[in-house]
This record gives sequence, C-alpha cells and structure tokens, in this order.
Amino acid sequence: MASGAGSNFEGLVAACRSQQLAAEVALLVVNNPGCGAEQRAARLGVPCQRIDHRDHASRQSLDRALIEAFRQAQVDLVVMAGWMRIVTPVLVDAYPDRLINIHPSLLPSFRGLDAVGQALAAGVQLTGCTAHLVRPEVDAGPVLVQAAVPVHAGDDHDSLTARIQRQEHRILPLAVALAAARLAA
Ligand code: GRF
Repeated sequence: MASGAGSNFEGLVAACRSQQLAAEVALLVVNNPGCGAEQRAARLGVPCQRIDHRDHASRQSLDRALIEAFRQAQVDLVVMAGWMRIVTPVLVDAYPDRLINIHPSLLPSFRGLDAVGQALAAGVQLTGCTAHLVRPEVDAGPVLVQAAVPVHAGDDHDSLTARIQRQEHRILPLAVALAAARLAA
C-alpha cells in the first residue's frame, strides 16, 4: 500500500528479487492516481491496483475495497509503505499480525503527520524509523525493527528525510521477514 513516491515499495521488490527476502510482491495498491509508486510498479512489472479514497464515503468502505483486492491477489502479508490514510479496525482485524507499517521516527516519539518536521522542531539529536505491526491506534503496535539516525547540525527537512529513508529501505525487508517468522512460530 503506497500513496507517494514509492521508494519503500521499490526497496521491497528489490529485496524479493535479489532473494534477500523469500517473498513476492503480488500487488501494489495506490490511492493517488499517478503517484510515484504507481509509476515504479509499471516500470518493475508489478501488478498495481488503484483504490482511490475519494471514491469511498467512509474509511471502512475504503478498507473493505482493500481487503477485496488483497483476497483476490491471495496475499499473506500487507505492508503500508507510505500509505497516507488512517486505516480502521476493518483492515487491521482482517490481517491480524499480518499488517506492517513503516514510520519515519523512533516510535513512540513523533507519531502522526510530518514526523521528520516534528523531530527537527523538537531539536533531538537522534531520530530514526520504525517498522511495526499495525494496531487500530495510529502509529502504534508491536515494534518489529527500528533504526536510529543522527540529526546533523545544519540538517534540513530534505537531508534528514533522505538519511532516514536509507534506513527505512534497509529495515522494511527485515521487518517483513520477522513478521513472517512470528506467524510461522
Ligand atoms: C516514508 O518515509 C514512510 O516512513 C512514511 O512515508 C514515506 C514514504 O516514502 N510513512 P516512499 O513513498 O516509500 O518513498
């Protein structure tokens, strides 16, 4: 599931194709027509379905459409890789311990929107990213993997985002493998 540039999506596809991750990205779902993630899917040859939240009267209705797409694609795990919509218990309960999110902070610090801006405003010297299992509360749930990232003097939003994203691309495949291992156990 992606809403924006899709670099985490592409990182997951690369991890699968290099056999670092014993998995396959069966389907990308995007909500924003023409977003970078959709373009990457076309380039990478990954099936992509557009499920636009603007076509749904409620968050629950959007989640039901997502579930239908995932059932048809027979997915085992779902990754919110930059999905900029709040999901409801409809989706969370359909994929118990099978729904993963990546967030650009060391949770529980800086939940919600613009975590990088929040970290810069707070003046912290260390931030990072978190891959976690999704629970109904926003940006909460059992941590799978975290990476710490230093904030450098003179960092701006773009430079800090780029440093965090390099770590996101590293930890998200690890988190998928860990979530799968937890299910198998
Ligand atoms: C990532 O920073 C992720 O943590 C946040 O949204 C961003 C998505 O980036 N939830 P991309 O679309 O994967 O490039």
